[in-house]
Amino acid sequence: MLASAKIRVGLIGTGRIGRVHAANIAGNASMSLAWVADPFVDGAREVAATYDASATESATEVITSGEVDAIVVASPTPTHVTLIEACVDAGVPALCEKPIDLDIERVDALRAKVAASGVAVALGFNQRFDPSFAEVHRRVREGHIGAVEQMSIVSRDPSPPPADYIAVSGGIFRDMTIHDLDMVRFFLGDIAEVSATGSALFDEGARKHGDFDTVALTLKSAHGSIATILNSRHSAIGYDQRLEVFGPGGLLQVSNSPSNLVSASTPLGVEIRRPYVENFIDRYSAAYARELDEFVKLVRGQDSTSPTFEDGRAALVLADAAQRATETGATVRL
Ligand SMILES: NC(=O)c1ccc[n+]([C@@H]2O[C@H](COP(=O)([O-])OP(=O)(O)OC[C@H]3O[C@@H](n4cnc5c(N)ncnc54)[C@H](O)[C@@H]3O)[C@@H](O)[C@H]2O)c1
Repeated sequence: MLASAKIRVGLIGTGRIGRVHAANIAGNASMSLAWVADPFVDGAREVAATYDASATESATEVITSGEVDAIVVASPTPTHVTLIEACVDAGVPALCEKPIDLDIERVDALRAKVAASGVAVALGFNQRFDPSFAEVHRRVREGHIGAVEQMSIVSRDPSPPPADYIAVSGGIFRDMTIHDLDMVRFFLGDIAEVSATGSALFDEGARKHGDFDTVALTLKSAHGSIATILNSRHSAIGYDQRLEVFGPGGLLQVSNSPSNLVSASTPLGVEIRRPYVENFIDRYSAAYARELDEFVKLVRGQDSTSPTFEDGRAALVLADAAQRATETGATVRL
C-alpha cells in the first residue's frame, strides 16, 4: 500500500481495551477506523457512530470484507487464536491483545502457520511503549549502565477483578504477570530459569478458584542476569507500576506516575494528595497510542519494534513455567 494512504483498520471487540484502541486509531494520523465488530452489536454501533465507521456483530465479516488493511483484536482471550488465524488466511496484518491464548498447545498449533504466512502479527505488550520504560530500554541499549546485572518490576492492580473473571483468567501469571514477563524478556532476552511463589491473602475470588492474589518471581536470563517481579491484585496507593534496572555503571529507575503535581506545603510538612494514577488506561495512555504508531510501520513493511507472535508465545511459556514453579516449589529450567 502507498506509504501516504491511511491504513483502514477493523477493530474486533469494543470492551474496555477496545474503546481505548478505537480512540487511538481515530486519533492516529496514519489510520482510520473503518469497521467495528462486536457480538454485543449495540457496543459496536456506538463506537462506530463515534468515529464514523461501519458496525457489525461478525468479526469474520470485517476480516474478509476487503475494506480493511489491518485488524486490531481486542475481544476476549479465548477468541484470539481463531481471529489471528482468520487474519492470516485473509492476508490482513493484525495487532492482537495479550495473551494469545491461555493454552500453549493452541498457540503452538497456530505458530507454524503464522510464521509461514508472512502476514504480520503483533502482540499488545503496550508496556514496551511506555515513554519512561522505553527511555530506560534505550539507555540500557546505549550502554549507560553497562551490561544489566539485575532488574526488578513491581506491578500492583488497585483492586482484584470479580471472581467470575478470575475463574476464566488462566491465573494471575497468564493474566497479569504476562506483561512483566514480556518486559523482562524485552530487557534481558532469553530466560533460562523461573522460580515463583504465590499466596491468596485477601481475595476471595482467588481463593475460591485456586489462584493467587500475591506473587513473587525470580528469573535468570541465559546470560545470568537476574530479575524479580512482585505482583499484587490490590494496592491502597492506586495502580503501582515501578521498574528498575541495575548494572555496573549505575541504576535506572521508573517510579510511580503522579496523577497530579499539586503539593501543599504548610508548617506541618509537605502533603501530596492522590499521588498515583488509578488504572491501566490512564497510566499507559501514551503507550497504547505509541503501540499503534509502531504497528503502522509493521503494516507498511517498514522496520518496526512491535512485539511479535513469537514474543506472545515466549511470555506464555514463562507464565506456564511460573505456574509450575509455584505448584512444585522447584525452579523451572527452560
Ligand atoms: N494490553 C492491556 O493493557 C490490556 C488491558 C485490558 C485487556 N487486555 C486484553 O484485551 C482483551 C479484551 O479485554 P477487555 O478487558 O477489553 O474485555 P471486555 O470484556 O471489556 O471486552 C471484550 C469485548 O469483546 C466482545 N466480544 C466477545 N466475543 C467477540 C468476538 N468473537 N468478536 C468480537 N467481539 C467479541 C465483547 O462483547 C466485549 O464487548 C483480553 O484479551 C485482555 O487480556 C489487554
